Amino acid sequence: MLKLRKRCGSIFKICFTRRGFRYKVAIFIVGIVIVFYLLIIILNVIESNLDEDMNSFSIIFQGVPKDENVPVLIWWTPFTGDSGSYKQCGRNICFFTDQRKYMTDPRTRAFLFYGSDFKPTDLPLPRLLSHDWALFHEESPKNNFLFSMEKVMKLFNHTATFRRESDLPLTFQYLDNLESLTSKKYFVPTSDKNKNGKTLAPLAYLHSDCNTPSQRDSYVEELAKYIPVDSYGKCLQNKELPPHLSDPMTNMISPEIFHLLAQYKFNIAFENAACQDYITEKLWRPLTIGSVPIYFGSPKVEDWLPNPLSAILVKNFENPKKLAEYLLSLQADDNAYEKHLEHKIQDKISNQKLIDAMKRREWGVNNDPTKKNFIDCFECLVCKRVTENFKRGLKHASPLKFQATIDHYGCPKPVSNFTMKDDNQNWWPELYDKAIYEATAMERLMQKGTNYTATDFYQEVINLLENNAVR
Ligand SMILES: *[C@@H]1O[C@H](CO)[C@@H](O)[C@H](O)[C@H]1NC(C)=O
Ligand SMILES: *[C@@H]1O[C@H](CO)[C@@H](O)[C@H](O)[C@H]1NC(C)=O
Ligand SMILES: *[C@@H]1O[C@H](CO)[C@@H](O)[C@H](O)[C@H]1NC(C)=O
Repeated sequence: MLKLRKRCGSIFKICFTRRGFRYKVAIFIVGIVIVFYLLIIILNVIESNLDEDMNSFSIIFQGVPKDENVPVLIWWTPFTGDSGSYKQCGRNICFFTDQRKYMTDPRTRAFLFYGSDFKPTDLPLPRLLSHDWALFHEESPKNNFLFSMEKVMKLFNHTATFRRESDLPLTFQYLDNLESLTSKKYFVPTSDKNKNGKTLAPLAYLHSDCNTPSQRDSYVEELAKYIPVDSYGKCLQNKELPPHLSDPMTNMISPEIFHLLAQYKFNIAFENAACQDYITEKLWRPLTIGSVPIYFGSPKVEDWLPNPLSAILVKNFENPKKLAEYLLSLQADDNAYEKHLEHKIQDKISNQKLIDAMKRREWGVNNDPTKKNFIDCFECLVCKRVTENFKRGLKHASPLKFQATIDHYGCPKPVSNFTMKDDNQNWWPELYDKAIYEATAMERLMQKGTNYTATDFYQEVINLLENNAVR
């Protein structure tokens, strides 16, 4: 090559002038190959960028779906208030609608349900093989015990729930970010808390939902016999909030309330139900403001605490009296108390699992403008999976399998660990038992492969009850 170039000045000149046609063809082929490879590289880069850029979730246009090859996804329980729009998610495009008339459209590939509105008497039946079901439910079973049943969870292909095992885990739906855990914005140093102790109790309680599956008030009542509790919410109230803060919706997010609660050494943080990974602002709020949470709820909450001692767990104490004794011992020992506040005092988060999970979280909370919200992420996940199978269908390839299990929700029967006295108001275990019958009736009717009426459904439930066919 070098030799040739010396003689003629340029490779092309050689080709075109001296050796004629054969060289032209050779160079042409080499050129094509190079261009081809470059194209492949460029396409790959674009494709992988699109894959990574799941943040690019956008509405392309609203209206009716005209495209033959775009899957239609129906919110069976209207949730987003969107009657119909194409949305682009990475390189996938889906048509989302809450119009049930699309149920029989051959492009319909998925039905999306919001858990609290899911009713066994109102389902998109008969269900075709190509009909995926997707469940979005960030709430505890308080609203609906059906998802505690394996028979019901098995119906879904895609899930977003609080459980870590879910396809889109919402476990940290109430945690703004990791920085809020170490931030001193609301933090009150121990010496100041000690001074407050002259006018305030050591513990604050601010709950307004007083009859819950976890029966938390019974425990607090007992605890308060041994250590003073200031209760501001509707439950066991003994202290008033300023009137402009007394609305439970405001007081969940008001900085004024945060400052008030931050004065306390401890905040009672009891979830309304004990489900794995069902963790709410009850826990994150005291962690954020720098008061130690006294926690009851998710049995595996340790997995997500910033440091091992960041919360005091009710389950580690035999009874309320023992817990009160421990808290009183901390009242008298600032060093021991501050071991529970390493995230604030030492700016420390030692839980790598929590750090990693928050890094993985694609969505933001509190209208974070830099991130999508979790509903967009859920729609995106379903769109992506459904599109994949839609394309495979066009190529007559067998679909990828997507199947939820009981572990995507599955809360246990609410045993009332907290009830210190006979409590015949506790209907929660009964609601759970009712759901067992409903789930079985639903399964049986669906196995027939046809639709059914509400009357059919309740008749089936009654049959099961009469024959005692379920336990
Ligand atoms: C979706 O779930 C249903 C019910 O379990 C199942 O029959 C179907 O095969 C699943 N679809 C996919 C694509 O895995
Ligand atoms: C409730 O008590 C039972 C029996 O002591 C125990 O096995 C269970 O883990 C407790 N539940 C919670 C959520 O602490
Ligand atoms: C069942 O579906 C058929 C059409 O597929 C419809 O005519 C009928 O009204 C439906 N029945 C119920 C109970 O929804």
